[in-house]
Amino acid sequence: MEARNIVILGATGSIGRSTLKVIDSHPGFFNVKALAAYSNLELLKEQYYRYRPEYLGLVDSQKGQLLAASLKDEPVRVLVGDEALLTLVSLDKVDMVLNAIVGAAGLKVSLAAVKKGRDLALANKESLVSGGPLFAPIVEKTGARILPVDSEHSAVWQALTAGHKNEIRNIILTASGGPFRNLPADKFADITPEQALAHPTWQMGSKITIDSATLVNKGLEVIEAVVLFQVPADKIKVVIHPQSVIHSMVEYIDSSVIAQLSIPDMCLPITYALFWPHRVTSAFGQIDWDNLGPLTFEKPDNKRFPALELAYQAAQTGGTAPAIFNAANEVAVEAFLNRTIKFTDISDMIYNTLKKMNIVTNPGLEDILEADSQAREVSLSILEKKGC
Ligand SMILES: NC(=O)c1ccc[n+]([C@@H]2O[C@H](COP(=O)([O-])OP(=O)(O)OC[C@H]3O[C@@H](n4cnc5c(N)ncnc54)[C@H](OP(=O)(O)O)[C@@H]3O)[C@@H](O)[C@H]2O)c1
Repeated sequence: MEARNIVILGATGSIGRSTLKVIDSHPGFFNVKALAAYSNLELLKEQYYRYRPEYLGLVDSQKGQLLAASLKDEPVRVLVGDEALLTLVSLDKVDMVLNAIVGAAGLKVSLAAVKKGRDLALANKESLVSGGPLFAPIVEKTGARILPVDSEHSAVWQALTAGHKNEIRNIILTASGGPFRNLPADKFADITPEQALAHPTWQMGSKITIDSATLVNKGLEVIEAVVLFQVPADKIKVVIHPQSVIHSMVEYIDSSVIAQLSIPDMCLPITYALFWPHRVTSAFGQIDWDNLGPLTFEKPDNKRFPALELAYQAAQTGGTAPAIFNAANEVAVEAFLNRTIKFTDISDMIYNTLKKMNIVTNPGLEDILEADSQAREVSLSILEKKGC
């Protein structure tokens, strides 16, 4: 089999680095054609010397110029600035694009990849949340495939092979519950970024770790599942499963529930997406059944974690509501990490931003980009009014 050419966007992040580990674990299957990041020049350069891609991309122009200058004698083209990533996904002879960018910044490249008919291994859930309605018609036209990397959606994708779409009763997304699953409501306002960044079961980038602590991440995943599997939001349930061993389930109309289980390591769903439709040997460990212990389940607490319910409402409203939900959350998470707002303000900011904005039904890309940018302005003005 000829090695497949892969472009990795967000190569320096948690998922990007795990993807390179997966590629290392199966030499000869992938040729790393391009690697891109936002501003982490040092790590991208290290990755260059290890994987020798033909192209590198850095969005931060200043750092990009420095990178280009430092590699001027190397056989690599360094692309710099906002358009760099769009060029990388459109290169000739690309078989797969892995999008591990964080945030709605990943939307345009995801769309560019599917427009080109590429296989898109997608970790950047915010693309599907913000741009949901745009993907289906393009995918239908170009035949591009969106291969989910998120562990929950990978689990659903695998469980869906056991039945047919019209036989699905519910999709059940599992959630670890994050570090504050058992914290009393009156302590939530005092949660610090350090406490919120200490996730009990997963090692991830900082934005998704905060999203997991607020359950915004599960809300984003509900919307992602609506788009990926074309199932209405009321057929997507969330259950808290603190051990993070069952990654999600599909319940069929005959009341059978098909679950996918593994150790909590993102290298596993990345492997599934990269090698699909084949299964390959994993070097990343397996369940130790002798010492596994009980697997437990709980109902999410919407009072302490109101963002999950807001995400359902945004999914049901549709149009630009999910893009607004996402953009307000991105602003709020940054403000929380910078200690300008409290943990409990994150869901309040999402709620207030959604309340202040008009929703466009049947949006095009321009409407979605406009909603994203307006929602950021509205969220920032809410911050200013709070005196932050
Ligand atoms: N981590 C996980 O276990 C996990 C699991 C499921 C899904 N996901 C999803 O995967 C995505 C990435 O998560 P992560 O945890 O890997 O994040 P991360 O560790 O913060 O890495 C983010 C990557 O995106 C790049 N980046 C940031 N802003 C960018 C921009 N505006 N344009 C282009 N590149 C940009 C960063 O470059 P620099 O390093 O140069 O800043 C970095 O390479 C998110 O959508 C997340 O929800 C993650």
